Amino acid sequence: MSSKTLRVAVIPGDGIGTEVMPWGVKCLQATAKVFNISIEFEHFDFASCEYYQKHGDMMPANWKEQLIGFDAIYFGAVGMPNLVPDDVSLWGSLLKFRREFDQYVNLRPCRLMPGVKCPLAGKKPGDIDFWIVRENTEGEYSSIGGKMFEGTDREVVIQETVMSRVGVDRILRYAFELAKSRPRKRLTSATKSNGISITMPYWDGRVSEMHKNYPEINLDKYHIDILTAHFVGRPEIFDVIVGSNLFGDILSDLGPACTGTIAIAPSANINPEGKFPSLFEPVHGSAPDIVGKNLANPIGMIWAGQMLLQHFGHTEAADALLKAIERILERSEASVLTPDMGGMGTTQALGEAIEREILSLA
Ligand code: NAI
Ligand code: MG
Repeated sequence: MSSKTLRVAVIPGDGIGTEVMPWGVKCLQATAKVFNISIEFEHFDFASCEYYQKHGDMMPANWKEQLIGFDAIYFGAVGMPNLVPDDVSLWGSLLKFRREFDQYVNLRPCRLMPGVKCPLAGKKPGDIDFWIVRENTEGEYSSIGGKMFEGTDREVVIQETVMSRVGVDRILRYAFELAKSRPRKRLTSATKSNGISITMPYWDGRVSEMHKNYPEINLDKYHIDILTAHFVGRPEIFDVIVGSNLFGDILSDLGPACTGTIAIAPSANINPEGKFPSLFEPVHGSAPDIVGKNLANPIGMIWAGQMLLQHFGHTEAADALLKAIERILERSEASVLTPDMGGMGTTQALGEAIEREILSLA
């Protein structure tokens, strides 16, 4: 891959976002050092409730100009519901990034890691290892609709699903390409064309059409209801799964939940063309209940950094960082693992262990 400098905007946000971010950056710096990758970090204090309290807004008016030149945004978490209502903090920051930077792919790995207790009986590492590709800009989450006769017996509410050919095709192309890059070359499409009889058959039709460009991919489709059951019962059948905004949203929480603690799960919001920065973040939120206690598990944040390296083609470095995380989990030292994983360790102890592991490769 190119040796160009990766420019990363670091936005820790709120709560434990500010506690796990330093370890994310340190592990990325360590990996960059070992693999000779040039990364430049710039820190921003906006997109946080503290910023809101000082300035009356989550972000400065020129946030877009400030961020647009970066390759990536490395994001912690946002939200402090006792200070600012969640809809204000989330819509005023993270959701603006996703929409205005056209991050139309939401990507999440679901991987059962060694040393992590799986909530599904009898599953071992290797049994669960798949990707969820969620359409992130349209579908069921549209702003088309309205209310009539509000407050009367005739009250009516309507919200329309929007599927555009451009929007559906681009997410499918991304999913087929991802499946093509994987050894199993298998793609599963989430549908519900037996119940939702206009948009979902359209989705299915675009899937079949796109499949013609990827004859080497094993394609199947399941209705969303039985698909969720298979996540729990037979997760080993999956490789890459693609879904509309709503179905993808549900699957992308269920998937990581099937592999243990959400504190270790990462997520990427990607603009594949690189016209805008892509955003890499842990799945978890700001966890106000454990803030300030040095108990937050930094793995979700660090793993999100691993996805960043992967996205920009630094495959060898990304594989090594994932391996480092795996080795620390496999060792399962109680003094290192954080309490959410049954240990007695701290954010610092776990972050340092992974940083040391990656530096030991130098
Ligand atoms: P949360 O993910 O912050 O916490 C849920 C539970 O998991 C809590 O008990 C917390 O202590 C635990 N937890 C989460 N991350 C952990 C970690 N790294 N290590 C150890 N334990 C961890 O979700 P919650 O409580 O629903 O939301 C709290 C705030 O975060 C809200 O303001 C919410 O809007 C926001 N939020 C932000 C997200 C984002 O920035 N992408 C995503 C989810 C929630
Ligand atoms: Mg969700």
